[in-house]
Amino acid sequence: MRQGLSDENDTGKERKGGVNIAVFASGRGTNFAAIIRAVKSGKIKAGLALLVCDNPRARAIARAKKAGIKVALVKREDFTAKKEFEAVIIRELKQNKIDLIVLAGFMRLLSGEFVRRYKGRIMNIHPSLLPAFKGTEGIKDAFDYGVKVTGVTVHFVDEKLDHGPIILQAAVAVNRNEALACLEEKIHRIEHKLYPQAIKLFVTGKLKIKGRKVVA
Ligand code: GAR
Repeated sequence: MRQGLSDENDTGKERKGGVNIAVFASGRGTNFAAIIRAVKSGKIKAGLALLVCDNPRARAIARAKKAGIKVALVKREDFTAKKEFEAVIIRELKQNKIDLIVLAGFMRLLSGEFVRRYKGRIMNIHPSLLPAFKGTEGIKDAFDYGVKVTGVTVHFVDEKLDHGPIILQAAVAVNRNEALACLEEKIHRIEHKLYPQAIKLFVTGKLKIKGRKVVA
């Protein structure tokens, strides 16, 4: 296993013998930022080698550049077929010797073929207690439903949306008269802790998938 990072610019470099991570993001990239911090501080001893982004306006791109992480901007609209779009991503993953794919607000469904290729090596974070409130509006859907407890889930990705084996979950109480914006803030704060924890478990070889269950 690789040793901790010695300086800030180290983050984007490929390292021999350890886990190389690619983060996929489409938007703000606050989870990506939390992962950058965890790698830079040495909490996660891995290489953060690549950001794969499908949106040229995503804030995640500026975050990657600031941290010295390589960006692969691959726009879906530049390809007729999903297969061609994913082929370009796969080429980037191979070139950068990626071991773990971390989806952090990547708002695109990966094909079954792609998911099978990287089986057990793709993680996702979702802002609800799965299997409740899947989809793109997990926080708002739970809020509108009137739940008293919601939360955050980190899971391995399988061929169905927000469905694969669960790695970690954390519950968040919805307080009386709480505004949606306040709940969103609480959920994001939890996400920024939970995702680095899950990645660390993977990087240190602590996660075993047994059917639907992940044993840590
Ligand atoms: C996060 O809240 C993440 O859980 C959610 O997108 C947000 C991305 O925020 N993902 C999903 O809803 C996946 N179904 P970020 O760009 O600031 O990290």
